[in-house]
Amino acid sequence: MKDLVSIHDLSKQDVLDILDLTTQIKSEPLNSERLKGKALALIFEKPSNRTRVSFEVGMFQLGGHAVSLSAEVAKREEIKDVGRTLSRYVDGIMFRTFQHEKVVGLAEGASVPVINGLSDLLHPCQALGDVFTIKEKKGLSNNLKVAYIGDGNNVCHSLMLACAKVGLNLTIATPKQYKPSSEILHQAMTDSSGAEITLLHDPVIAAKDADVIYTDVWTSMGQEKENKKRKKIFKKFQINQELVKLAKPDVIIMHCLPAHRGDEITDEVMDSNNSVVFDQAENRLHVQKAVLCLLLGGKE
Ligand code: CP
Ligand code: NVA
Repeated sequence: MKDLVSIHDLSKQDVLDILDLTTQIKSEPLNSERLKGKALALIFEKPSNRTRVSFEVGMFQLGGHAVSLSAEVAKREEIKDVGRTLSRYVDGIMFRTFQHEKVVGLAEGASVPVINGLSDLLHPCQALGDVFTIKEKKGLSNNLKVAYIGDGNNVCHSLMLACAKVGLNLTIATPKQYKPSSEILHQAMTDSSGAEITLLHDPVIAAKDADVIYTDVWTSMGQEKENKKRKKIFKKFQINQELVKLAKPDVIIMHCLPAHRGDEITDEVMDSNNSVVFDQAENRLHVQKAVLCLLLGGKE
């Protein structure tokens, strides 16, 4: 594993190794010297709270250093040249951008590992943190039902690929015109080690007897102009108490955040005892530290 561009590129063993190392790192004191003397460049072409802070703090806690670059550096020259240049200075690059091809181009140009910190297509760091959270709360049993209800977007795509790799059954309910990419579905089916991936358009069937209910914003970054139209179409996909009642009583509620409270999730659900959204956010830090150790060569 040289890069983390898509979970599809990882073997099942790579994913299991990341989850195991995450457990280990999470149980250790926060600060170590696993990445002493290593540097990570961060480039964000979209806003970020969780990804930015967890990568910066994660590098600091591992004894390394993070260098934040302005979004402009990814626009001034060809992305592969950005990768070639940065590879002369740093040991890894984290990139958040719009077109997925740009992350691929950066990874092609760079001789150091490139980590996809979200593209319009994928959000692999999120999904690795998510399966780690499911493993912590429920175990990784093939009897579980994970329900993703909402937009068939980047978060949904990476969740599909991650669930397929670790063998979690995933039921997805989206409006007909916002279903996930058929190419990613095909990849997930190919990767699936016995897990079922079911595509539906009915949130009620998806929520029924679910062990996990997951949602994300209806309007992702870069789609703001479509907000009004999307709000209407997605209305019946809201995660509210009525929908949660259909799931198992110990269902966990997940959201990658940021949430638009009152749209895709109600306050009541987000703040309920079933909600694990902030544990999920915390796990981004632990899982990314494991990814950094494995990619930047600091595994002890
Ligand atoms: N979930 C997530 O990636 O959050 P940020 O956009 O705040 O990084
Ligand atoms: N789907 C959301 C995820 C944010 C972390 C977006 O792309 O804006």
